[in-house]
Amino acid sequence: MVTMTPHSFNRKGNMPTDPSLIDPSPRRLVDRVALITGAARGQGAAHALRLANEGATVYLADVLDEDGQKTAEELRAKGFDATYLHLDVSSPDDWHRAYEVIDTRFGRLDILVNNAGIVRVTKLAEESLETWNRILSVNLTGPFLGIQTMIPLLRAGTRSSIVNTSSIFGPSGAIGYASYASSKAGLLGLTRTAALELASDGIRVNALVPGGVNTPINAAEPEGGVVPETPLGRRADPAELAAAVAYLVSDDASFVTGTELVVDGGFLAR
Ligand SMILES: NC(=O)c1ccc[n+]([C@@H]2O[C@H](COP(=O)([O-])OP(=O)(O)OC[C@H]3O[C@@H](n4cnc5c(N)ncnc54)[C@H](O)[C@@H]3O)[C@@H](O)[C@H]2O)c1
Repeated sequence: MVTMTPHSFNRKGNMPTDPSLIDPSPRRLVDRVALITGAARGQGAAHALRLANEGATVYLADVLDEDGQKTAEELRAKGFDATYLHLDVSSPDDWHRAYEVIDTRFGRLDILVNNAGIVRVTKLAEESLETWNRILSVNLTGPFLGIQTMIPLLRAGTRSSIVNTSSIFGPSGAIGYASYASSKAGLLGLTRTAALELASDGIRVNALVPGGVNTPINAAEPEGGVVPETPLGRRADPAELAAAVAYLVSDDASFVTGTELVVDGGFLAR
């Protein structure tokens, strides 16, 4: 699961040819405790690998228990401190269970990455209320519950930080993505508000705004997805998003809160 796909190159070769350029050498997160949702695979697994590589103890949360256990096991095989937790982000009870597990062992949480997300492509006229509610409950209510539940542990943490994974379809619209785009736009509002309310606790809150990324979520996308509209002409490798998350949660971003880090190959610049 944590094995990254080979780095893709666009036509101008503007991808680092040397993977060490995006593999971590800094150890900015030693002694930090991190919880990453949706970490069984895709970007979440890449975030877990990157944060662990930088020294963090990582909790990988997901509903794909088999994949999640396997990903955590692969990290432990590399010598990292990694634990899988079953956590449906739309379930308050699951969040409370995760709270108990982390509280019992550490009594604090330094990093929360609200990465779990789902998508369903349907034209607005045909969208069902059930799908609308499910997408909002995972993509928006999930991070809300996560932040709210974890506030006491984050307050006890060291220069704590939250990253919420939005999307280019948060700031922009996209045909067929009414529920998804609404959830991701809402997440930007949640991010800004949480940043304002938690600043006095020393907790920074930022949003990650990925463009197209090579992960299983895109399996159902039409051929190429957003690639034709992406100036860099390719999807990102999950490791490129993980590098941005590692920056946001590190002390290198100590004055960065309430903002959006766009990692989209130029999509939103058009
Ligand atoms: N891949 C892209 O092109 C892209 C672009 C912009 C934003 N995003 C966002 O990035 C995030 C990560 O997605 P990805 O690209 O790695 O796709 P992915 O499908 O590989 O990963 C999403 C993970 O979230 C998990 N998940 C789904 N519902 C959950 C729930 N209720 N509770 C806990 N975990 C749950 C899935 O099991 C999966 O492991 C998502 O929020 C997605 O919306 C992805």
